[in-house]
Amino acid sequence: PLSTTAELVAAAARRGGAVAALNVITLEHVEAVLRGAERAGRPVILQISENAVAFREGRAAPLAAAARAAAESARVGVALHLDHVKSGALLRTAEQCGFSSVMVDASHLPYAENTAVTRDAAAWAHARGIWVEAELGEVGGKDGQGPLDAHDPGARTDPAEAARFVAETGVDALAVAIGSSHAMTSRTARLDHGLLRRLHGEVPVPLVLHGSSGVPDAELAAAVANGIAKVNFGTALNAALTGAVRAKLAADPEVVDPRRYLAGGREAMAEVAATLVGVVSGAFGT
Ligand code: G3H
Ligand code: ZN
Repeated sequence: PLSTTAELVAAAARRGGAVAALNVITLEHVEAVLRGAERAGRPVILQISENAVAFREGRAAPLAAAARAAAESARVGVALHLDHVKSGALLRTAEQCGFSSVMVDASHLPYAENTAVTRDAAAWAHARGIWVEAELGEVGGKDGQGPLDAHDPGARTDPAEAARFVAETGVDALAVAIGSSHAMTSRTARLDHGLLRRLHGEVPVPLVLHGSSGVPDAELAAAVANGIAKVNFGTALNAALTGAVRAKLAADPEVVDPRRYLAGGREAMAEVAATLVGVVSGAFGT
């Protein structure tokens, strides 16, 4: 059934786990993620990023409506989240599109501007009952950003500054830079668990990990144990889809009907989604 990010994050925290938040671009992504979450038997957050909205010709509503309809009939709780929002115009569509939460991404701005932009966005969203995540420090590897080293200490989130940022902006959750980087296709990132524990101790809201595709399972489990409450994945899903489609097209050069290659891509993505949802929510082995 349809849930909210606030409910799913709170429920995950009560059971000592985190909730997986998976980025969706196409209807096949939505179907694969829900299939995977149902296999794991755990709730999931469906995220649509500003980049995905750009690909959908600037319109968030059609994919959000499809995601919402699919969520309503899912056998696990599903929330809709608008991810990495830089555009005020897109932010203001969040309510009518049915997003229960948004991530305001002003982390590229200097501290004072990040704080001002985030505070205004949070005030707007809270007036409409929307849960707000923001970012301090910069998780590398975003579009248009140079290839930032995931281990670059300059990009890390400072605990004292993070506590101040949360107090000044009123956000409900904070994305922290602790060593992960966006769009990694190998799972080789190492997280700074000491920094994460300090952030968890000093910041009074749930912490969010971005760029989680590049983080090995054991590191993910440790991050959840050390205070990460929401774990964002995108690239791992796309790698599974694209790998299966590439193999099918190579094996069958005559194929024309997209269902014949998308079905395998969707299923490969569902298997990865099931594993990732299970790892961060403690569905397996606990
Ligand atoms: O907000 C989305 C995530 O941070 C996804 O990152 O594609 O590297 O898994 P990823
Ligand atoms: Zn991200």
